[in-house]
Amino acid sequence: ATARFTLDPAFTVGDVDPRLFGSFVEHLGRCVYTGVYEPGHPTADAEGLRTDVLELVRELGVTTLRYPGGNFVSGYRWEDSVGPREERPRRLDLAWRSTESNRFGLAEFTDFVRKVSGEPMLAVNLGTRGVAEAIQLQEYANHPSGTELSDRRIAHGDKDPYNIRLWCLGNEMDGPWQTGHKTAAEYGRVAAETARAMRQIDPDLELVACGSSNQAMETFAAWEAEVLAECYEHVDFISLHAYYEEKDGDRGSFLASAVDTESFIENVIATCDHVGARLKSKKRINLSFDEWNVWYQSRPNPHPVEDWQEAPRLLEDVYTVTDAVVFGSLLIALLRHADRVTVACLAQLVNVIAPIMTEPGGPAWRQTTFFPFAQASRHGRGTVLEVRADSPTYPTERYGEVPLLQVTAVRDEASGEVTVFAVNRDQHAELPLEAALHGLGLTRVLEHTALADADPEARNTLAEPERVTPHAREGTELRDGVLRASLEPLSWNVIRLG
Ligand code: AHR
Repeated sequence: ATARFTLDPAFTVGDVDPRLFGSFVEHLGRCVYTGVYEPGHPTADAEGLRTDVLELVRELGVTTLRYPGGNFVSGYRWEDSVGPREERPRRLDLAWRSTESNRFGLAEFTDFVRKVSGEPMLAVNLGTRGVAEAIQLQEYANHPSGTELSDRRIAHGDKDPYNIRLWCLGNEMDGPWQTGHKTAAEYGRVAAETARAMRQIDPDLELVACGSSNQAMETFAAWEAEVLAECYEHVDFISLHAYYEEKDGDRGSFLASAVDTESFIENVIATCDHVGARLKSKKRINLSFDEWNVWYQSRPNPHPVEDWQEAPRLLEDVYTVTDAVVFGSLLIALLRHADRVTVACLAQLVNVIAPIMTEPGGPAWRQTTFFPFAQASRHGRGTVLEVRADSPTYPTERYGEVPLLQVTAVRDEASGEVTVFAVNRDQHAELPLEAALHGLGLTRVLEHTALADADPEARNTLAEPERVTPHAREGTELRDGVLRASLEPLSWNVIRLG
């Protein structure tokens, strides 16, 4: 059977906010140390940043960068991370049972963000700290000069304020694992008061309240409703986090993970709008999907790690082609809701469930998941078109009948080019595709690339860093306004039309 859809320039979802292609740098494992930062590495610059990693981050096309956590932020003392490096204290990091040296801190992070032309997204600690420390950090980071904290930043060598516009009010405060975990009522109050205080300094900040850590949380939706009832008028975003893995060999359900992502997004939108309606508010809350990825959470760590080790090897998942296909379908899910999901962060950036891996003192390389992200960031800018595909389906354990095709399309208004992002979830058969594109003024296929492999477990490793890359696909044609293609089994596809 053939999967079919129609595109029409008059039917759009919304414009893609570039911040949809954000990522996340947490003080966790080797994301920072020997990841982005490794003084003494052959490629390190004067500030200790690995330039081989900087180059890959630029190639990845990352926009927003969330920092410093994650669970780490709930023990974060920002003052420890500024000033002369040799005077910074070593601290216990309760979240990851590691020792934090603070050799990389706020100034180093903003230097890193500047070097990759990104935008910082800073989280404040609402686990073990509160309103006072949040506004002190804001003053240190953003106030020009003339106060003790802003002058402290200047004395530390940064005359210009960091001008951080986007802030997270804590992290996963609904999770019992979070240091300083709160009930929705407790968190809603502290989020509202922190937001009000931060806006007293600067009314134009963009603020993200913590939503649920995933859709399966017992408190899901009630949490969002209760938190937003307290802080609706003070924040701009509610956060969503979701991680997926193959469980009990059920690949069919794993491949359908984006079904959960889309329902999660739609349920959070419904909840936000319900609260907005109850409050008779004219304001709309958008979604910050600020942690998403494939993560093999239930697998034991293959690396030996000791308690309170510095930069241990944690969460260093090695991704397969199958993982990259699921990952691509998650990107499609985000794009399909670009009208409300206007910030998203791939968790994380380097070494820790990451598209970029490094070896201390050694090379850096691209995981399989690097490619869908880089392609979506490069070609997924513009307006998302409405796609209602008529696709053959397959049965899954977890989600019932699921379409074999997961698809979205983005139109670049300036050039008129349209890029179709498509996943074939069929593990064994090609999926024929036919799309009616009349009215878009398209005449030719510029490129069709696919990420697929005869071995669905193929991966890139230190020994074989370029085993998996996207390849060009022949035979895709556009004639009389009709696109015809065939998608390889278990594949991520990018079809560019001009
Ligand atoms: O990204 C890894 C962890 O996952 C983050 O620290 C936390 O927010 C989430 O549970």
